[in-house]
Amino acid sequence: MCGIIAFSERGSVAPHLIKGLERLEYRGYDSAGIAVMSDCVIRTCKTTKRVNDLEAKYNAHPFYGGVGIGHTRWATHGAPTETNAHPHLSEDGHFAVVHNGIIENYEALRAELKSEGHFFKSETDTEVIVHLVEKYYNGSFLKAVLAAAKRLTGTFAAALLCIDEPDTVAVIRNFSPIIVGIGTDKTMASSDVSAIAEHTRKAVYLDDGEAALLRPDSVSFYDFDGNPVEKEITFLDGTEGDNGKNGAAHYMLKEIYEQPDAVRRLISEHLKDGEVSFSLPSLSREKLEDIDKICIVGCGSAYHAGVSGTTAFRRLAGIPAYSYIASEFRYMEPMVDSRSLVILISQSGETADTLASLREAKKRGAYTLGVVNVVGSLIAKECDDVVYTLAGHETAVATTKGYTTQLAALYMLALWLGSERKVLGDKRKKQLTKELAALPGIIEEALKTEAHAKAHAEEMKELESVFFIGRGTDYAAALEASLKMKEITYIHSECCPAGELKHGTISLIEPGTRVFALMSGGEVAAKTVNNIKEVRARGAHTVCCAPVSAAAELTDIDEMILLPDTEPLFFNIAQVIPFQFYAYYTALYRGCDIDKPRNLAKSVTVE
Ligand code: F6R
Repeated sequence: MCGIIAFSERGSVAPHLIKGLERLEYRGYDSAGIAVMSDCVIRTCKTTKRVNDLEAKYNAHPFYGGVGIGHTRWATHGAPTETNAHPHLSEDGHFAVVHNGIIENYEALRAELKSEGHFFKSETDTEVIVHLVEKYYNGSFLKAVLAAAKRLTGTFAAALLCIDEPDTVAVIRNFSPIIVGIGTDKTMASSDVSAIAEHTRKAVYLDDGEAALLRPDSVSFYDFDGNPVEKEITFLDGTEGDNGKNGAAHYMLKEIYEQPDAVRRLISEHLKDGEVSFSLPSLSREKLEDIDKICIVGCGSAYHAGVSGTTAFRRLAGIPAYSYIASEFRYMEPMVDSRSLVILISQSGETADTLASLREAKKRGAYTLGVVNVVGSLIAKECDDVVYTLAGHETAVATTKGYTTQLAALYMLALWLGSERKVLGDKRKKQLTKELAALPGIIEEALKTEAHAKAHAEEMKELESVFFIGRGTDYAAALEASLKMKEITYIHSECCPAGELKHGTISLIEPGTRVFALMSGGEVAAKTVNNIKEVRARGAHTVCCAPVSAAAELTDIDEMILLPDTEPLFFNIAQVIPFQFYAYYTALYRGCDIDKPRNLAKSVTVE
């Protein structure tokens, strides 16, 4: 959570900082602020509103200078007030800091610094950083920053200014991401490469325990002991940037429409000449044969992808597979060992609970595989191997293409494992491979449900509560459909396994209650149809999404959404799309902030 940005250049830095913050706003939007070195004074501008308000405030009273830092906040320590908004300055205004992460020992440091006469203005954990730098400053900005960094425990990426070195930004990292960009006549740093990609093609990913000094014409890297460090330059290809909404009203809508291409890109990366393959250097043949259990771990939508994935692994690879919510994984005595494959799913690659689960699984000797979107992210780096989902930058807080590419990756991994372990016969493998290749086209067909969802969403805008039901893999998709609905419309939405309704939840059904039933046909069809009838008999307005082949079984439904048939194991990927539209249009009619729903942030780096 929280986004940080910094520039050292010769022009006027504030517009670049503000534009960068717009790109980073998905990481948190409780407040925003910038600090700029201007005529040997550090000037700040802050808001408790969004970045566009920061821009208006800055434009009303601009200040000029080529070196500055900026921040967009998801509040953890202290309410989202202007005092708690970053950047934080030292008492004498000599230093400024922006920070992403959590300083775990901030209370002890604060007490120590207070006893030495430091006066704190904010309630944040961050403010200790700037006081520590002030305490250790003895004429060398770098030395003071490194001394401060060594006192901190927890997660941090921070950028700092010092008025004695007016062309310099100092950057430090421990676990939270920070990427340094090297441009022409300017250098920069950011929590996410997408915020700086328009300024440079050369990026350097800082590692834990590293620092950098940025000046307009140079960057130097150090470890926390002050030893110079050689860093590898990653050359960006220009696709890392956020290319805006591309004419769509919201990022979410744009990203919904990017799904066929995203899934196509991922599938074509691994499906060549009719064979699915993965290059996983840490998974030896012996280890692959030896796997006796698969645990799939993630949070929110990533967890939902995992729920779908378990069935694919059980059916296609014949391996017992279980899905876990990452924040629970460590506390349920996970029975994983050196014969376990633990798959960590994360779009951002930064989610704290997923990262903690990864570390727990590694501690227990499991082989860990990341299914991650953001290249070079912490989870991607710490897993034994990684499969990138190639979804491209996802800006809307509610994931769409992030989720569907996770599904596609899991389907392919299950198919590959089944094939490598000779569980799948040739005929079945061939048929599944064909169905896999057809998925982008099926998603394109599913996008045609937009008009239906839009037409019915308006009727939903006054609803207080909705329900989603499904069985088997349909339940997995229903979980995701329900989450999409609640997170962006703020309508209470509950997902219940269809067969479980009558054990309690059905008491909430009354005339007019909207129940969305997801049904992929096959063995679950008849039973789900009965469950739909049960709620309809109690007055529910029923909506059912099913493949065309199941249409005949579905009578007496209020709204039908039919999608092309595909392999039932893969149906989730198309099935969720109409519900992305339902959520989107309902939120639109309710006047919600679709791309930045209240209280949420895209990258959740707190446990
Ligand atoms: C919901 C959503 C979240 C994320 C979850 C995990 O639309 O986006 O539930 O799926 O916070 O995030 P990642 O995948 O980044 O680990």
